[in-house]
Amino acid sequence: MSVLEVRGLGVDYDGVRVLERIDLSVAAGAFCTVVGASGCGKSTFLRILLGQERPTRGEVLLDGVPIPPEPMPDRGVVFQKYSVFAHLSVRDNLALPLEIQRARGLGRLFGRARRQVRAEVADLLHRIGLEHAGDRYPGQLSGGMQQRLAIGQALVLKPRVLLLDEPFGALDPGIKKDMHALILNLWQDTGMTVFMVTHDIQEAFQLGTRLVVFDKLRHDPHAPRAFGATITYDLPLRPPQPPAADRPAGPDPAAAAASQPPAPDAAPETGETPDAAP
Ligand SMILES: Nc1ncnc2c1ncn2[C@@H]1O[C@H](COP(=O)(O)OP(=O)(O)OP(=O)(O)O)[C@@H](O)[C@H]1O
Ligand SMILES: [Mg+2]
Repeated sequence: MSVLEVRGLGVDYDGVRVLERIDLSVAAGAFCTVVGASGCGKSTFLRILLGQERPTRGEVLLDGVPIPPEPMPDRGVVFQKYSVFAHLSVRDNLALPLEIQRARGLGRLFGRARRQVRAEVADLLHRIGLEHAGDRYPGQLSGGMQQRLAIGQALVLKPRVLLLDEPFGALDPGIKKDMHALILNLWQDTGMTVFMVTHDIQEAFQLGTRLVVFDKLRHDPHAPRAFGATITYDLPLRPPQPPAADRPAGPDPAAAAASQPPAPDAAPETGETPDAAP
């Protein structure tokens, strides 16, 4: 069952065609890694999946229904240049989305509702490895810790789809490795569908169940703005994990496989057989 369906998607900015003719069907539990040249429209594509921008053409369906024209809790995001609230502690940064969602018109939570938020935040702090940093402010965190916080913030409302825009680009190789383990664990625990843009091709192969490549297929030297990027390769790497509810208890075979090199004869997710590696 596909959770995300993109049909005939195209995006123009001020008469410049950025994306064109994008069709994609994503199975629930997939970990799609997205690569492509700088400026080809990867972040634009993620903003459209988020509902932050409308496509010029085509449509995006989530569970068969067109996505509403605004970000919703079912889609979490970590941006290329992420933003956490500098004046809030780590704990309060994570609590804020829950408080906004649950307090509604009241402004603040009290009693049991407040204790529930504290418990959920404590659990999340533990899962993202920041349990000892809850009282610190973002400016007092290392780059890796800030990125853990940004991921925690994207996960706090338990999204079904997590969108990651080069989340580990600025991190040292050792810290990157820790973050890969973290994101695979979170993916495995939640059964969510992940879309991750990266410039690191090794990371793309290592983490993804499916690798999607964006590039321009058509160039016209007389009209360089006429054609946009599309999906030029769509490589199945390993099977997506089944939805959380359908998975047996114990270690998840898909996540275990994700730490291994891809099997050369992995079954295609899309039925397409690419004729060359990117
Ligand atoms: N709001 C906007 N208005 C006009 N043009 C835009 C806007 N957002 C992006 N663009 C243009 O669309 C193209 C795609 O931008 P985008 O940020 O999606 O690329 P990208 O693939 O994420 O690049 P990078 O790998 O460098 O992050 C670029 O040419 C950019 O200048
Ligand atoms: Mg980008």
